[in-house]
Amino acid sequence: MEKIILKDIPGLDKIDVYIANGGYSALKKALSEMSKDQVIDEVKKSGLRGRGGAAFPTGMKWGFMPKGDEKPKYLCCNGDESEPGSFKDREIFEKNPHQFIEGALIAAYAIGACAIYIYIRGEYWKWINIIERCVKETYDKGFAGKNILGSGFSTEIYVHRGAGAYICGEESSLMNSLEGKRAYPRIKPPFPAAFGVWGNPTTINNIETLANVPEILNKGGEWYSKIGEPKHPGTLLFGVSGHVNRPGVYELPSGTPLMTIINDHCGGVRDGKEIKMVIPGGSSMPPLTKEECMDMKMDAESLKAVGSGIGTAGIIVMDEDTDIVDILRRITKFYYHESCGQCTPCREGCGWMLKVLQRIIDGNGRQSDLDLLISVAQNIEGNTICALGEAAAWPVKWTVKKFRSDFESRVKDGLKISTKNKVHGLRSSEEYVEVKRETDPVVRELFGTVQENVHNKEVKRFSS
Ligand SMILES: Cc1cc2nc3c(=O)[nH]c(=O)nc-3n(C[C@H](O)[C@H](O)[C@H](O)COP(=O)(O)O)c2cc1C
Ligand code: SF4
Repeated sequence: MEKIILKDIPGLDKIDVYIANGGYSALKKALSEMSKDQVIDEVKKSGLRGRGGAAFPTGMKWGFMPKGDEKPKYLCCNGDESEPGSFKDREIFEKNPHQFIEGALIAAYAIGACAIYIYIRGEYWKWINIIERCVKETYDKGFAGKNILGSGFSTEIYVHRGAGAYICGEESSLMNSLEGKRAYPRIKPPFPAAFGVWGNPTTINNIETLANVPEILNKGGEWYSKIGEPKHPGTLLFGVSGHVNRPGVYELPSGTPLMTIINDHCGGVRDGKEIKMVIPGGSSMPPLTKEECMDMKMDAESLKAVGSGIGTAGIIVMDEDTDIVDILRRITKFYYHESCGQCTPCREGCGWMLKVLQRIIDGNGRQSDLDLLISVAQNIEGNTICALGEAAAWPVKWTVKKFRSDFESRVKDGLKISTKNKVHGLRSSEEYVEVKRETDPVVRELFGTVQENVHNKEVKRFSS
């Protein structure tokens, strides 16, 4: 299949190679031949939906922006990419960054933005360096800045480093962070198109979403709408991790069967094992059982029909040896750590779910803990300012519901299990290093040593 984004062209990150392969022709076409509304209509016709998690129709989002020039308007490009299991925007930054920048320039023209903010998580310095170089190349060729290609349209591009928190990827929190404030999500409404960066109309899009735009203008919205599933068309960048032989990012049409991705593209489950559980769209999406995986198509509507979601299309595969309870504890610990703390249900609920999961793992769980976990999760979802609440609640609610027997066996016998398989690799979960040596021999005799798990940083006291 012809790739739309991850094209197999060496050196495509250099502007001359990109231009030699048709790059920036879509921007020229938009500026010289199309009105702003025509660009938005073409994107609407394509059926493009956002790749940042919610699969919201892109053309419709652009259409929400006010038409007048009373206030400055902005475009934010979301390169925070912090959802566990998601690593596909990285491929665009490294392999085809100009296609994303061209898409952002076209979007800025369509919505009338005077500035484009490319927000990238601060630790991702390698991508930031690439994008800063590419932005300079774009200015040097006259594709950005004042009076682009003599069209009368002007827009500036700024690269902004985030300070490194999952919550900064949430759109309203990203805008607060950009303004130099603490990255607290804002209550909506008002939505960004009405009240965005510095209170001005703003559109925010994911990097992959924008990287699709140049080819939509080059080849037409209708062409794009015929790729993959009609209600969620185009290709998706599937980032596959976990227990497969060839993890990586695969660009495939939406609706590609999950088992085709796992078996044909990723070389099957490692060591010929059976699947136990698959998370289809980044760690916040409800998991799939082995049976659900068998004829699952990977697009927003098919996953919605079984109560899950496409999210960021980050697929995490777990084999039959996986300790599901420990995986859920690890995921919950992440959301507990990343909660910004504004809303009580999220702040307290994440901590409660973690405590209950931890006591089940420690062999102190009770049968009633399973319904307690579901109840806490249900009291978080729908009751918070932003969707991090759901991101934390859904994995707990659905993993306990779908894999209940795994939890029941642990609370029934008070079992302590240590499995070798972690979802992110082969390392043992039981490696501890001593972090505090008790110098007093009596204290040491009585209380042992304090040691920290090298992987999950949990501190335990060991008898000496
Ligand atoms: C807690 C949280 C974290 C998010 N992180 C990201 C992210 O890293 N990248 C991203 O594009 N969208 C992220 N989103 C979704 C954004 O809020 C927003 O919907 C998206 O950037 C819109 O772009 P799209 O319409 O192109 O998908 C996150 C949402 C939540 C609730
Ligand atoms: S849901 Fe959680 S992360 Fe989102 S605003 Fe509330 S406390 Fe913060």
